[in-house]
Amino acid sequence: MSRVAYVNGQYLPFRAAGVHVEDRGFQFADGVYEVVYFHQGRLIDETGHLDRLERSLRELSIAEPMSRRALQAVMREIIRRNVIASGILYIQITRGVARRDHPFPVGVAPGVVMTVRRIKPTSAATVAAGVAVVSTPDIRWKRCDIKSVSLLPNVLMKQTAKQAGAYEAWMVDERGFVTEGASTNAWIVTADGELVTRETSSAILNGITRIALIALARQAGVRVVERPFTIAEAQAAKEAFLSSTTSYVLPVTRIDGHPVGDGKPGPLTLNLRQSYESTVVRGVAA
Ligand code: PDD
Repeated sequence: MSRVAYVNGQYLPFRAAGVHVEDRGFQFADGVYEVVYFHQGRLIDETGHLDRLERSLRELSIAEPMSRRALQAVMREIIRRNVIASGILYIQITRGVARRDHPFPVGVAPGVVMTVRRIKPTSAATVAAGVAVVSTPDIRWKRCDIKSVSLLPNVLMKQTAKQAGAYEAWMVDERGFVTEGASTNAWIVTADGELVTRETSSAILNGITRIALIALARQAGVRVVERPFTIAEAQAAKEAFLSSTTSYVLPVTRIDGHPVGDGKPGPLTLNLRQSYESTVVRGVAA
């Protein structure tokens, strides 16, 4: 079955799908996006993703292209047309098409693109070994809470990680604290078993997986502390991991070449991964 993309009201064969050369997403990165995982046709944390999408639009004064209900209908239809049971749905909304000029254009409809694709689940071997991260300065703008398509710093950092043989880059702010990964949130477990992740602010994206994990951990009686931590604290921590829609919970076992804890994925990390996975399978992530 060939892939289908949704572009501004039309379902198109993937190869024929495209946007206008003056789409502001293309020219100015003037747009927002979401990545939603779906399992056996069920969208995971759909409400959380749509709430965040609407918030991103509001923060940038981009009009909602359609009602939530209409958007949800398109989301289901694009999954149906692609005949994929499990994978990721990508939704992008831009300020629309207008002659290139920085101020907001007047009377222009937002542009909407949706695509879906299968993703390979993280291999058991990767989960068992954990992944490496490298630290890099956080060179992003000061509104990282908005899920903007302006991802150039994230792209550069991911490339730095790749070239270093690492899975992810953990970004460090001007005070020396980790903000988050290039496309994931960052976590540690302290010697006394506290689960630590940075508090929400304009310095990080409030991950939907992050929100679900905090709830799952608290339900399991784990003490969750939302505060910043340094690379040195993470290297000396008992456990470390990262989270996102596509990687769920992934143990981090090396940071800048130093092993975390005993260099193996920790028990709390693996428990959280398992409980998150089971909520996904049941289709009821928080
Ligand atoms: N990335 N931080 C950043 C900078 C991100 O881009 C993401 C998501 C996250 C985790 O958010 P969530 O749990 O809602 O996926 C944190 C997506 C998956 C991406 O860009 O592909």
